[in-house]
Parts: sequence; C-alpha cells; structure tokens
Amino acid sequence: MEKIRALASLFERAGLDFLMGAHDAVSAKIAEDAGFPGVWISGLGLSATNGLRDSNELSWTQVMERIEMLSDRIAVPALVDMDTGYGDFNNVRLAVRRLRRIGVGGACIEDKLFPKTNSFLGSGQALAEPGEFCGRVKAAKDTAADVFLVARCEALVAGHSLAEAVDRCGLYAESGADAVLIHSKKSVPDEILAFMAEWDCRVPVAVVPTKYSDVAPAVLEEAGVSVAIWANQSLRAAIIAMQRLCGELAQTRTMRGLEAGIADLSQVFELANNAELDAAKARYSHYVPPSREAAKAAESVADVIRLRAAWSAVQPPSADAAKNLLTYAGATVPFYQGVGAEQLSELPIVDRKAYENDVAEFSSGASTGKYSLTSSGTTGTPLTVTLDDASWYAVNYHFFTQIRELAGLPDDVFRPGELAVLFVSNKPGRESFVRPLPALNSGLYARIQLDLSVRSARAFTRLPAQILYGKPTYLLDLRAVLLAEGIASPPWSPRLILVSGEPLHADDRARLTDYYGAPVMDALASTEGGLIAATRPGEDCHRVFSSNVRLEVLTDEGAVRDSGVGELVLTNLVYRDTVFLRYRTGDRAELETGADGSQRLPHLWGREPRTLRFGPRRLETRELTERLGSLPGMGDFQIVSRVDAALLRWMPDAGCREPEALRRSLRAAVDELLPDHEVEFELCARITPPGGKKRRFR
Ligand code: SPV
Ligand code: MG
Repeated sequence: MEKIRALASLFERAGLDFLMGAHDAVSAKIAEDAGFPGVWISGLGLSATNGLRDSNELSWTQVMERIEMLSDRIAVPALVDMDTGYGDFNNVRLAVRRLRRIGVGGACIEDKLFPKTNSFLGSGQALAEPGEFCGRVKAAKDTAADVFLVARCEALVAGHSLAEAVDRCGLYAESGADAVLIHSKKSVPDEILAFMAEWDCRVPVAVVPTKYSDVAPAVLEEAGVSVAIWANQSLRAAIIAMQRLCGELAQTRTMRGLEAGIADLSQVFELANNAELDAAKARYSHYVPPSREAAKAAESVADVIRLRAAWSAVQPPSADAAKNLLTYAGATVPFYQGVGAEQLSELPIVDRKAYENDVAEFSSGASTGKYSLTSSGTTGTPLTVTLDDASWYAVNYHFFTQIRELAGLPDDVFRPGELAVLFVSNKPGRESFVRPLPALNSGLYARIQLDLSVRSARAFTRLPAQILYGKPTYLLDLRAVLLAEGIASPPWSPRLILVSGEPLHADDRARLTDYYGAPVMDALASTEGGLIAATRPGEDCHRVFSSNVRLEVLTDEGAVRDSGVGELVLTNLVYRDTVFLRYRTGDRAELETGADGSQRLPHLWGREPRTLRFGPRRLETRELTERLGSLPGMGDFQIVSRVDAALLRWMPDAGCREPEALRRSLRAAVDELLPDHEVEFELCARITPPGGKKRRFR
C-alpha cells in the first residue's frame, strides 16, 4: 500500500520525477541507492536479460516471479511494464491481482495487441481498437483499484495522428487510468511537446525519452510532464561493460590492469545486504534466554582472572616489539617463513584480499584459537581473526587501561563492583551483559542493548557509569530515546564519552557533549588492529598507541612513508595468532611520526572522502559538516553526489519543532555553498542504519 501511495505521489506532485529502468534486483537496488525515487521494471530488460525477445516470449508468470524477487529488495516503488496486459481484459485481471499481492506499486499496460512487438522495431504496428483497450483499463481498475494504473498510448509510435493520441488518452483516463504514458520514437521531443500542449491534464503524463534522450529535464517539466522513464539505459550500460571486459580478458587472459574497472566484491556483498545477514546470525544462530544470562556472568569472573594472568605473563611490548614480531613471524607464520626480512620495511604490503584468500597463511597456530573476532561484512567478506588469551585480554580489558591513561583519569575514579563503563549498542541481536574490568580497578562493564523504547531510557537512568561508550550512532539513538521520554537533561553525566567504530563528525561530537555533559574521546579500533589510536577528550588529533601498533601510510603515489597523507598501513604488535604486518586498513589519514618514534594522526578521514565533487567544484566534506550539521534543529544528514546533481538526505533532530524552518535554512546554506548545482532534498525518518556504519558522504 505504501509503495502504491509513493508511486502515486510521484505522478501527482508538482515537478518532474524520473523512474530508472531495472531488469533485475541488482539493477533496481543500484537505482535506489543512486537516489531514484522509483524504478520502471522494463519488459524489454526482463526479456533481454533472459536471452529472449521483447515479444512476450517470457510468460506472464515468469515476469511476475522476477518482479517479486526484485521488488522485495527495494524500498522504493516500481512501475511494472505489463506490455499489453498479456492478452485481453481477463488476462489483465489475473495479472493485476497478482501484482497487488506482490505490492510493487503500479502497472502500465499499452494499447497494442498480444503478442507485442517493441516500439522501436519496424513501423505501423497494429493498435488495439480503443473500446477493447478501454475494457482492459476498466477491468484492471475494477479488479485492483489500489494498483496505480498507467495506460500507455502507442498511437504516435504507430504513425497515427496527434489528435488520435490525445483522443485515445482521454478515453483511457475516463476508463479509470490513473495516468497516461505517451510514447514517441522521434529523436526530438516535438511530438511529446505537441501532445502536452493539447492535453487537458485530466490525469498526469509519463514519457519515455529513449530516442530523445538529450532533452533537458526543464523542457519536459515546463511542458507539464510528471514522470520521465529511463527505460533501458542501465541495461545498455551493463551490456557494454560486460562486452568490454570479456573482450579484453579473452585476449589478455589476466585481470592485471582490469580490476580497477570492475566492481569490488565488497560492493556485491553490500548490494545483497550481507550486513543484515551478519546481524541476523548474531541474533538467531545462538540465543540464550534471559534466565541463563546470570549464570554466564558468574562464569565470566573466573574467565577474566585467567585471561589477566595470561596477559601479565607476556612481556609488555618493548622498544624492539616490531623486531621481535618479525622474528616470530618469520619462524611461525607460513606467509613470512623464509622471507628473512630484518626490518619491517623489507616486508611486502598486504591487503584484505590476501587474508580472505587464505587466512591460515597469516596464522601462527600458536593458540587453540578459541577466541575470535569477526569483522563486519559490509566492506567485504567478513574476516575472522583468532586470538590467544593475552591478546584477548589486550583488546577487551587492557584497552580500558590505555583509554583511562590517555584520558588522564586516575585509577581511583573507578571503584570495585561499581559501574565503570556503560556500553550502549543498537546492533540487533546482541545480548546485554555485565563483566568485571580488572583494568579499571575492578569496576564493572555493562552492555545494554537499545530497543528504542522507554525500557532503554529506564535502564540508562539507573546505570550511572564513569565512561559512556558506543558508536556515535548508538549514543545519539540513546539521546533520542531519552529526549522522547521528556528527559531534556540526563540524570547523571559520565566523566568521558568514548566513541569508536564509526566516523565522528564535529556536529555529532557537539550533540553528544551538549547532551551528556562530558567531553568526547574518539578511538580508532578495528578487528585487525585492536586499539590503534584515540584522541584526548575534546581534542581532534589521534595519538597512536605505540605499544599496540606501528603505522605507516601508503601515499597516492604508491610510496610507503612514516609521515604523510594516505591509506593507513598497520602492523599489530599485540596479536600472535593471526598476525597483521604492514596491512592495508582502507582508512585514510594524515600520519606524523616524531623523532622519538611516537605517532599521531592530525587528520583521520577513515573511509569518508575528504572532498566531494559537485560538477566542476570540489568542497571539503569538513566544511559541509560545519555548515549544514550545526544548523539549529538538524539531526543528521547525508550527501549523495551524482554526476550533475546531488541528493541531500536530512533528518530533523529529536524534539525539533520546526522542520520547515530547518528545511529553509538548509536550502539557503546549500544555495550559498553550491550556487549552480542542483541539490534534491529528501526528508528521512532515519539516515544511519540502527546497527551504525555511518556514511555521511557518498
Ligand atoms: C520497456 O522498457 O520495455 C519499454 C520501454 O517498454 S521502450 O522499450 O522504450 O519502449
Ligand atoms: Mg516494454
């Protein structure tokens, strides 16, 4: 129902909207991600991608099966190209009933005869007799009044007069069509403009500028067209891309030099939303009913004592840590055996793919591997790293000693048995738990799972902790829950807000500090690197934990340096099970290495771009955040830059009373920043998914 309404509103609202052609779930998802408010499921596209002609060779039930899979993957509505309706009024009735069950949005039927022929093949195609086609339209609406129905007129394509086209469209509208589609195969939009001049606008009009594709959108908009359809451009783009690759690969028989031109596998996984499966696995593959949780907490005390002993037994990493690790890896890790490197700089740079191919190559097999960390699958195949007792202690417990020291908090701030750290999460499927933290004077670490309800607000008010910890998204979600509960200022303030796992933008930092009344410390931590770096409270520059890691940067010119701007290359000095030596992290930063070997990151961009291109102009993303993020009432925003336009998704802050005022000030700021660029606005209920992974600039 929602999709039907969304599609109807595209037709009914003022201005011109575009539907993007799709022929399968991937092309539909790509169109949605690019910002199209809806898709056209092309009959030609479905046929062609199944190796068939656009002549109803694909049966109507086969069409429906494909549509069902496609529409399940997108949140935007689809307009289904139902050709002629697959026969007479009776076939139309069956098909629209099925479409209504699928819940896709709308259907389009054309006034030709079954089996159809594509509009761009031959000339003088036979049209349906008007009364017979009006019967198909009426039958469709009588059967499924709530499926948005577009009646497509092929009179101009078949060589009939403008008067006949206008007359037919009038009859179709009178028979119940919610909109008409007037098709033309001329290479200029003259026929369409002439039609629009004659049309009395009793229902909205859609067009398909396949042949007159360089028409300016303003021309169609001024003529009164409501919806224009890019019916087959994605299909044609894919064909060329595949032909080019296949041709070159058949010749060269290697992907060398070709990889950069094709999608990374991580994009494939992202399109299939592998992250959702990871979250579902966490939720469902093992479920502990609440009554068993208490028993687990008791067990964990004994575990922590044992882990701490293992940690104390290993030497604190010395100045020679990198050298020791090198010797160790050369002796025990298959990938490095026999390399005989004396210094880190003699080792090859490795990337994530090398680990995905065979993680055992990088494993010493030193421990039983009973502890493992699995990285998020959103940037590629999830990677599982195994840890021994000491490194497990390092990443889960010693972590807090290091944070406490950098934050300048004395140990006695934390008291045995009292809450030291409250970790807030909104990642679906995780359990809440409490465990002791010997690293913080035996204070407690509690994890609460936000359920975005009053319950979360109550849990928070009862759990005062010295450190409030989570991704920025989680802590902002908690803030929204509290505000929704009328808690304008929280009943307690932590000494420190610790965030990690997501880029921290200046506006989010201000929202957190203002609300929770504490300075924010931003930590860079990862599955591969453990705790890598953190800012002091309220500072911007990240200090690198040199006992944990050694960093280098891979510059855009391909050089590896101790200082400069580029992709961070990490050597983890702590892990002895799966080792990471000169590992490309994918995060961009500016690195400074001092004469004493200490390291800092004056700028950390992570995976967010540093600048964004808008036509010929480039803007610093930092400036965009400064200008837009701090507008009164702003909750969150995201900018998706496209070739000749941009999409601004925006969301008012919890408790914002005047979203319209915010929209106006946003528009004024955007017009000032990008005076000649088209920026479309989309008001969103939420921008970052509940489990985090903020991506502000795309
Ligand atoms: C389709 O995409 O199948 C269409 C549009 O019907 S067109 O091929 O341009 O006629
Ligand atoms: Mg078609």
